[in-house]
Amino acid sequence: MTVTVRSFAKINLGLHIGPPRPDGFHELLTVYQTIGLHDVIRVSVHRGTGIEIRCSDARVPRDDSNTCFRIVDRAMKALGAKGHVTIGIEKRLPVQGGLGGASANAVATLLALERALKKSLPAAQKLQIAAEVGSDLPLFLVGGTVLGVGRGEQVYPLPDLPATACVVVTPKVGVSTPNAFAQWDRRAQGAGGAAIAAQVLKRKKRTNAPKLTPSSPSDRMNELGRSLSAWLSEPYSSAPSDVRKRRGRAGNPLLWLVRAGIENDFEQVVFPEYPELCEGKRALARAGAKYASLSGSGSTLYGLFAERDAAIRAVAELRKQGWAALATATVTRRQYWSRFLV
Ligand code: C5P
Repeated sequence: MTVTVRSFAKINLGLHIGPPRPDGFHELLTVYQTIGLHDVIRVSVHRGTGIEIRCSDARVPRDDSNTCFRIVDRAMKALGAKGHVTIGIEKRLPVQGGLGGASANAVATLLALERALKKSLPAAQKLQIAAEVGSDLPLFLVGGTVLGVGRGEQVYPLPDLPATACVVVTPKVGVSTPNAFAQWDRRAQGAGGAAIAAQVLKRKKRTNAPKLTPSSPSDRMNELGRSLSAWLSEPYSSAPSDVRKRRGRAGNPLLWLVRAGIENDFEQVVFPEYPELCEGKRALARAGAKYASLSGSGSTLYGLFAERDAAIRAVAELRKQGWAALATATVTRRQYWSRFLV
């Protein structure tokens, strides 16, 4: 039996980088949001042993460096299962950093494998295995709008946000995530620390916060934490009857969140190195995005739009300017799971 599933991508709605940890990873605070762009994964198990990856895209590795390979290897051991596992990866997503494509593929493979074997692991063990393979895998076991803390692998489902029109831009350049983190550390610790502090102060001025001393990385994590708490306790703890009040306030609570001042810290180190990415963000804003940002460490950029038609018009405009752009929408948790099986 072949099990076929959709492997949805994610974007980051804000990402704050905290201090480096003794294990070399960084504390993160981010909101992940799944989106409609997806790959298709097919898993089958036959007699024999071994893990075989089939993919027509030459950029996808077929060996044990592939996240799908690594998760199946772990899951087969944990399940005490035997067999030859074939994983077919139909790449529809741009193979571009920031969308979590490889991470999503791995989680989709794990869930398809369970169905193919008619065996399942406890949820906590799946989360653990996913986190061992990579920091941004566990979010795909939740779907929808997800709070990510720790190194990004500790995930908490947030109240589902309404599906929102979104445009994804995939510039040609690639950004190395470890390099972007290293660059962040150099800037935070070295001479660049002053520049970051100045930007933080500028941000505080913009939000009318009292300007005291420049914030430390953990202060800044707290800042996002407070924005998130305010956001969650305001429109979402309210009963459904408060929908009208919510609409009156912002129309779309997702747009309300982004207007509250969420930012992706990676932009501070990635944009100076790749000015075309900053240009892409500006192009999204000019094309009508209510909010535009780098996703993860990039190079993917996205824009959120008030209406689907506006997103479609923006794609046409961006393509005219030479950008690779796709229209999609954010995917709620309910949609994520109802569309998961093909
Ligand atoms: O866990 P993942 O494979 O996504 O991490 C890739 C690399 O990104 C890590 O080896 C580490 O250098 C960096 N990283 C980090 N802090 C995080 C997540 C990733 O420094 N929270």
